[in-house]
Order: sequence, then C-alpha cells, then structure tokens
Amino acid sequence: MRADLEKRAIRAAFGNAAPRYDDVAHVQRRIADALIAKCAVTTGIVLDAGSGTGYALEKLQALGADCVALDHALPMLMASRQCSVCADIEALPLRSACLALYYSSLAWQWTDTTRAIGEAARVLQPGGTLAVATLGPDTLNELRAAFRHADSDEHVRQFAPAASYESQLSAAGFEAVEIQRVAFVAHAADFRTMLHDIKALGANVVGGMRPKGLFGVQRFRRAESYYQSLSNDMGLPVTYDAVFITARRA
Ligand SMILES: C[S@@+](CC[C@H](N)C(=O)[O-])C[C@H]1O[C@@H](n2cnc3c(N)ncnc32)[C@H](O)[C@@H]1O
Repeated sequence: MRADLEKRAIRAAFGNAAPRYDDVAHVQRRIADALIAKCAVTTGIVLDAGSGTGYALEKLQALGADCVALDHALPMLMASRQCSVCADIEALPLRSACLALYYSSLAWQWTDTTRAIGEAARVLQPGGTLAVATLGPDTLNELRAAFRHADSDEHVRQFAPAASYESQLSAAGFEAVEIQRVAFVAHAADFRTMLHDIKALGANVVGGMRPKGLFGVQRFRRAESYYQSLSNDMGLPVTYDAVFITARRA
C-alpha cells in the first residue's frame, strides 16, 4: 500500500515536472549521453524505460534501432511525440525476449529494482544488452548534510549502493556485468534556486525535502546557511553520483 502511494506520488511529480523538465535537466543530459556512448549499434528493438521527455530516442535510433519509449507519467510521454507506452517499469506490457537493448537513464532509482531487473531480464532476448544509469548513495550529499544540520529527520531520499546491483543482476540471469560510478557536479546560483530546480526535475518526491512543522522556517534557514557555506566560484555544488550498469542477458 505504501509502495503504491509512493509510486503514485512519483508519477504525479514527474507529470507535473514535464513542461519544465527540459529547461533544467542539464546533468541528466550529460548522464544520458554517457550512457548512450556505452550502447553498441543494434538491429533489433530498443526500449527506453523511463524515457521522460524523450531526449535519448533520436540518439538511440541513430544506433540503427527501432525505439519504444516507455514512461508511467503521461505528460512526459506526450512531450516525447514518439511511439510510446504509458506503463510501469516494474510490470512491462511487452512480450518476453523481444528486445535487443534495454536502455534506462535515471529511472531505476525510483523503482523496486528487484522487479525492474526481473522485468528487464524477461523482455531481453538471449545475448541482448542492458544499459542503465541510476543514482548512487552520494547523490545530493550536500543537501543531505545541510538538512542534517537543521534537524534529525531524513529529508533526502537514500539511494542504493552500486555494489547491491551485481548479485541481483546475476541472480536474474545477466552476465558480463560492469558497474561504474561517476560523480557529476552541477552548480546552482543559490539554495532556493537549487531546491526549485530539483522540484522542476520532478525529483522532490519522498523524503520531504523541505522541513515542515512548528520550527520549519528556522530549520530551513539553518540548512540554507550551511549549504551557502559550501559555495565556490561556480556557485553551490550539487552532486549526482551516477551509477552506470551494463550487462548481457545470458
Ligand atoms: C529523471 S527522469 C529521466 C528521464 C529521461 N530518461 C532522461 O534521461 O531525461 C525519470 C523518469 O522515469 C519515470 N519513471 C519513474 N519511475 C517509473 C516507473 N516505475 N515506471 C515507468 N517510468 C518511471 C518518470 O516518470 C520520469 O519521466
């Protein structure tokens, strides 16, 4: 039940973010480009699981692939204007062994990864490729530290450690698993702009982000002043701990 509510909140946040997502998704673009660079030319069907506004689709098609976009947030799919499926990554409405490449950039961190991996294994052909970018535990660590400075509640979502994927992937029937972590650091002009951008990305769900309650304003200011102290020449650093996963369906 809690998982259902959480999933609905995630879908709604990304649906609301759709009109502004492309204006703020700079790091997301860099991560998608890095993931596409890991994908080889293919002749079969490619799935972009959690395709958002469809940034990767043209580039995946340039690999020689027929591409299907899939996302559970309809407003995101409507922005992508491609052959698309509105569905859940954890329950793909695709027949088994139909894909040459399962591509997914920055969606798995919002899912139950055991289910996402099980579905990826089911829909990939034997020998098919899995290429996924997700987020690791150091993502938004500056913001996590700033809120910890303000109170003892957890305001920023925890992301799974990169090592946790290896055993899940081999149990699901993947081989040649490679996992790489790369830190991407964005910069925001100030604390409020940074929170605004995170909201515009749809990534503000779960974890509460902004302290609420009787002393919410004071706690918010404490977090803000801690974060401002991290400022450098480029602004406030915002770290994305990208985890790149590639594997082959056995
Ligand atoms: C951060 S955006 C990334 C979008 C795109 N891949 C990109 O690189 O710009 C995450 C996307 O995953 C989608 N998503 C999250 N959980 C999902 C799920 N369980 N099933 C399908 N889509 C999901 C969201 O709706 C959102 O569009």
